[in-house]
Order: sequence, then C-alpha cells, then structure tokens
Amino acid sequence: MAVEDSRISGLYRLEMGQRTAAVAAAAKLSQEAIDAWKGVAGLDDHTANSMIENVVGTMALPVGIATNFIIDGKPKLIPFCVEESSIVAAASNIAKRALTNGGFTTNVDPPLMIGQIQVVEIDDIEMALDNIHKSADELIAICNDRDSTMIRLGGGCKRIEARRLETASGEMVIVHIIVDTRDAMGANAVNSMAEQVAPRIAELTGGRALLRILSNLANHRLARSSVRLSPADLSSAGDVEEGKQIISDIILANDFAQSDPWRAATQNKGIMNAISAVGLACGQDWRALEAGAHAWASMSGHYRSLTEWNIDGNGCLCGSIELPLAVGIVGGASTVHPVARANLELLDVNSSQELAGILASAGLAQNLAAMRALCTAGIQRGHMNLHLRNMVIAAGAVGSEVEALITRVRDSGLNITQTVVDNAFRALNEAD
Ligand code: MEV
Repeated sequence: MAVEDSRISGLYRLEMGQRTAAVAAAAKLSQEAIDAWKGVAGLDDHTANSMIENVVGTMALPVGIATNFIIDGKPKLIPFCVEESSIVAAASNIAKRALTNGGFTTNVDPPLMIGQIQVVEIDDIEMALDNIHKSADELIAICNDRDSTMIRLGGGCKRIEARRLETASGEMVIVHIIVDTRDAMGANAVNSMAEQVAPRIAELTGGRALLRILSNLANHRLARSSVRLSPADLSSAGDVEEGKQIISDIILANDFAQSDPWRAATQNKGIMNAISAVGLACGQDWRALEAGAHAWASMSGHYRSLTEWNIDGNGCLCGSIELPLAVGIVGGASTVHPVARANLELLDVNSSQELAGILASAGLAQNLAAMRALCTAGIQRGHMNLHLRNMVIAAGAVGSEVEALITRVRDSGLNITQTVVDNAFRALNEAD
C-alpha cells in the first residue's frame, strides 16, 4: 500500500515494537509482513535449507527504515539491511533536507541484461562476425524458444551483437545477447538463453563456444537519480552563509573524488552503503550490484565517483547518480525470503525499474550525507554517537545499564573509544 507521508516524526525515539507499529500503520502493511519483520515468520529452517547448500542456520541483521524520501513525487519509506550504525539516520537526514525541492527524480532504462558467449578457435573472424550478424533473427528466435512468463510479458532476447576481442591467447569473438528481463533480475533466464544459443553460434562461426554467462556490467540497464538543494537546505539552522560554504566545499570534495581513485573508492563505498543495504533488504544479489557499480565507475578508463555535484545558476547544489542496477521484484530471494517480501511490500513498487530508481536515490542521498559530514564536523562525531550503543553493549552493559552508561560516557566529554566505554562501565559498577 502506498505511503501517504514518509515523514514519521520522532521514529528514532520510539521503542522497537512501537516503531514497527508506526511504520506498519503508515504503509498499511499486511500482518504477514509485520510478522516477518518481528521474526515470527522470518526465514524458517525449511526455506533457508532450500536456498543454499550445507545449511546449518541463519544469521540475522537489522532492518532500519529511512524516512522522509520523496521519489518521483511519491513518499517512500526505505528499508535498509546493514550492520553499520548511522547509515539510516544519515540517509533520512538528507532526504528531509531535499523535501523543499520535491525530493528525488529518477530516470531508469528498460531492464536489458547482457549474456556473453565467448567463441574461440575461429579460423576466419570476419566471416564469423558476418554470419552472426546475418543470422541475428534466427539466434534471437533460438534464445526465445522457451516457455517463460518473462517472454509472455513482452520480455526475451531483443538483439544480438558480436565483436572481435584481442586477448593474450589470440583473437576471439564475443557475442552479446541483449535480453529484456522485465521485472526479474534475470540471471537465470539470461544464462539459460546463452547456453541454449551457444551451439548454433559455434556452427555459424566455425569456432568453439566456451563461456556462456551473463555480464554483471549491465550497462543497458542504467538507473539515474537527481536532487537539488539550496544553501539553506544544507545548513544546520537555515544559515545561508554556512550553506553556501558547505556547497562550495562539497564541490571541492566532488572534484577530489572525480580525479583520485583512492578517494573515489571510498566515496563509492559510501554510495553502496545505501544501495547494497536496500538491495539486501529487498532480496537482491548485492554482489552483482557492487560488481556492476564498480565496473561502471571505471568505464572511462579512469575509476571515478558514481555521482556528480554542480552548482546551478541560483547557487543550489545539484547532484546526480548513474549506475547499472540489475534488480528484480520477482524471482530469487525477493520472492522466497519473507523479510524481503515484507520490505518490497513497504516500498510498494510496481516494476524492477521503480525499485532501481529507489536504490539510486538512496545512494545519492547517502553520498551527500557523507560529503556534508566530511565537509563540516567530520564523520566521526555523528557516527561515534550512534555507534556508542554498540560499544556500550560490547562493554557488557545490559538492561537499564545501557542508557546509564551512554549518558555517563557522553557527559564525560571524552573522545569515544572502547577503552573509555569499558572504563566508564567499570566506574558505573563500582558506584553501584
Ligand atoms: C563509511 O562507511 C562511508 C564513508 O567513508 C563514505 C565517504 O567517505 O564518502 C563515510
């Protein structure tokens, strides 16, 4: 059910049960989804055992909800599944700042995946390429000769491309089958088609078809999102001068990431903090998302940031992101994992493209949150404050000791380290 408002004031202050109820009420979630979140109907042994091999148990991670997002005019509450504190709070903070200008706007390509067939041991490469091009319709028909819902819904192989590749072991031909996977991520469909069409490709080229596998560089399936914020939106208390300084420093930080691969890797890691977390929450193959993102970041021959930041004529900060996002809302874990189903129900998406737009927007917000923090107080103040709860629990605090120890550490004014927390815990116990 669509969320009417993604702002749930004070959500972070509620007890976990109250918070679940507040989000469930805002999204009119089904009881099944609520039970999945609470672990009542989480990943049972039977389902877990059918997902991978040699299963001995399951491992839980928290699901947190980023608030305040408006994406293409629709309010969205976004589930993140991740172990790192402050990610969800940071994304929600930027989404709130972006509300003044209507939030995020997306533009997502059709869901076209690439399957690769590597053909080796070809005597006449020109003739092989010519034969592939002339037989494109026949090859497309072979790929699509299967009983599949995806094809019935208008998907399937749409194009064939072939090129010569120089390698250390000599020349080979690489054939790409371009497959519209509709609302699926599509790995299984593409891999099956690649295997199905490979023998005919071998005949046509007079070579041997070796690898038959999808490419995770899904560059026909790009997702884009953009956002615009004024100096006042970015400042701490509507202080326009501070906001202007933050914007000009963010441009310097952006230039650093565009020109330096060491910084770009960290900036992109921050972006993937959101994209992989939302992907994981929705049962996506987050390794595929990571592989595609980093390969795309190096497409120019120079590894760079996935985002771009500029200042417009009104002095506003304009950000955009573009990356391949091979995601699906049918098939795989998105269909079998009860929590992934609950999270997709919360997002209320109608297509794989809509899900990709949400991931891209979350990544863009996450990047801005990191850059804003890095350009102002630094990342550690907010992070360590939020991480303090983890450290307090690691020190051994339980029940009411947790809040008492957090207050004691904050009041001490010391830099927060595990040793400071451990010492404060000892002092707290001695005082009792
Ligand atoms: C930490 O998980 C992510 C950041 O390092 C990202 C960045 O530096 O842009 C804060």
